[in-house]
Amino acid sequence: MRRIYLDYAATTPIDPRVLKTMTPYLRSVFGNPSSLHYEGIQAKNAIEQARQKVAQLIAAKPEEIIFTSGGTESNNFALKGIFYQFPRGEYQIITSSIEHHAILEPCKFLESLGCKVIYLPVDKDGLVNPEDVRKNLTSQTILVSIMHANNEMGAIQPIEEIGKIISEFKQKNNKSYPYFHTDAVQTAGHLPINVNDLGVDLLSMSAHKLYGPKGIGALYLKKGVKIKPFMHGGEQENNLRASTENVPAIVGFGKAAELAKENLEKEMKYLTGLRDDLINQLLNKIKNSQLNGHSVKRLPNNINVSIGGIEGEAMLVSLDLKGIACSTGSACSSNILKPSHVMMALGLEPEIAHGSLRFTLGRFTRKSEIDLTVKNLLPIVERLRKISPLKVI
Ligand SMILES: Cc1ncc(COP(=O)(O)O)c(C=O)c1O
Repeated sequence: MRRIYLDYAATTPIDPRVLKTMTPYLRSVFGNPSSLHYEGIQAKNAIEQARQKVAQLIAAKPEEIIFTSGGTESNNFALKGIFYQFPRGEYQIITSSIEHHAILEPCKFLESLGCKVIYLPVDKDGLVNPEDVRKNLTSQTILVSIMHANNEMGAIQPIEEIGKIISEFKQKNNKSYPYFHTDAVQTAGHLPINVNDLGVDLLSMSAHKLYGPKGIGALYLKKGVKIKPFMHGGEQENNLRASTENVPAIVGFGKAAELAKENLEKEMKYLTGLRDDLINQLLNKIKNSQLNGHSVKRLPNNINVSIGGIEGEAMLVSLDLKGIACSTGSACSSNILKPSHVMMALGLEPEIAHGSLRFTLGRFTRKSEIDLTVKNLLPIVERLRKISPLKVI
């Protein structure tokens, strides 16, 4: 059975052009970039070329890019690295209630060290209100971390407006902080990003969300912003991230960033068309269904719908048996199926949150796959509703 993969937000397949670029670095070009001989210099040059391409993707300078092992490390580095930079004292971080666990868990950890963390709510469309940031800024706020776009329901956050508010606050109080971080794991390579326009000091990226390899990411750190490294060892990455560089993965990330930049506008347009087609088909053909997350301020590839009266997991498993891969808005923890924190933050009733299904499209998705997905989903919904204890009006 030829499978249909509609879970690009979880991870993307590696682009064949990326793999081709990486291959020599897995075979003949194997030197340690810290070595002074020819093999080392070859590897070092490859890293610097990749750094330039990753920097170009977000309009940063190459020296502002630190390679990490992925989005999770970049987020941990940003939050803990800024916190540790400050002397012992009473501090506050502002974030949102819809962040990925790779932000929420480091926040929890910092709370255990005595840092106060404020979790801003979102409106019914999944958007943070920039005025809530303004209201919560105090002299103790060292960092604001708000994601660029949400991985579950795709809402694109008002990062530029928040950046302006923070900048005004800093100017008024004549301070160099709070610093502003955004988790751009779902947007780097998918939306145009200019770190200067966004007004961010730190930004997280991950290669496996943009057709690059897994286990490689980057943190953008604005020139002049000080951060404490938490990997100590060699002097790699300008003394900020010790360990021999993952050269093949870095080269792959560079190629993936280059391809993403080249095709950005075209891909956004293509995916937005497919996305709206799938949203319209689902909402028109399935009664008692609704779109989760803002309909326009939305990632071009994200469709998150709740289908009343059925659990998302039941639909996911049935679709999987038909050869279609998607995701749900629930998380299975300790054998209890509970709606995700993101679905709950939207204010959805638990039954509606449980009925959430996420399709995320990508570079290799075709219109015929959208139609086949709908064709397969309709009888699944009908069958599951017949056996559901929940009433559907
Ligand atoms: C918004 C967001 N942040 C962080 C991560 C973690 O990235 P990584 O898998 O590279 O550690 C993900 C991955 O799903 C994500 O969607």
